[in-house]
Amino acid sequence: MTLKYKRVLLKLSGEALAGGHQTGIDPDTVAAVCAEIGAVLSMGVKMALVIGGGNVFRGLSGSAKGMDRASADYMGMLATVLNALAVQDRLEKQGYPTRVMSAINMKEICEPFIRRRAMRHLEKGRVVICAGGTGNPYFTTDTAAALRGAELKCDAIIKATKVDGIYDKDPQKNKDAVKFDNISYDEALAKRLGVMDATAFALVRDNHIPLIVCRMFGGDIAKVVLGEAAGTTVG
Ligand code: GTP
Repeated sequence: MTLKYKRVLLKLSGEALAGGHQTGIDPDTVAAVCAEIGAVLSMGVKMALVIGGGNVFRGLSGSAKGMDRASADYMGMLATVLNALAVQDRLEKQGYPTRVMSAINMKEICEPFIRRRAMRHLEKGRVVICAGGTGNPYFTTDTAAALRGAELKCDAIIKATKVDGIYDKDPQKNKDAVKFDNISYDEALAKRLGVMDATAFALVRDNHIPLIVCRMFGGDIAKVVLGEAAGTTVG
């Protein structure tokens, strides 16, 4: 089996773990997500994971309702730790070794994020689940994904979503929306496609890391790592 991407950073939104409820963590949905991840791991792909926290708490909406932005963001970062532990539990039940590494020290429940140690875990075939965002308020988990993808020398950042790729307009609202198979960083910026926030996007662009947006389910992540047609590649 020839892999197009041997070492990937997979970004999942927190909502991907909530199932139909949209909030909270649904164990059946976590199992379904981990089955998709397991299919990729079984091909020998080295993987780091960044999971959002929006299913538990979304910093931006907290601050929109009058909370201090920094406090709201710290709550969001804690939410990502809950999701990381849920995914760790499930992946290990499936037989895949993992290490949760947090940008915010919580040594009783997970390791601190130390880049060289994370690299070693990856080399040993462990899934490195990066929790706690970047450890700083005002940054999104997309930015954490771009940062970890760059520093862990991943071949690609895969953003798994509800939608099967990037469209010229919102496909859920516009029936005539057209999907891109490939698009350059500059074109994605010029067209204001909003693939990631500006900080995250600048990181992937400046470091020339291919960014692939694809569906969470349906085997699309596996297709992406094999180089088969799925999702949209920005690069
Ligand atoms: P190697 O040194 O590469 O073999 O990695 P390792 O992670 O297996 O070694 P280590 O002996 O450091 O860790 C054993 C277990 O302890 C692993 O499950 C780690 O996730 C866990 N662990 C290591 N450091 C910490 C920490 O600071 N906090 C918590 N909660 N767990 C830790």
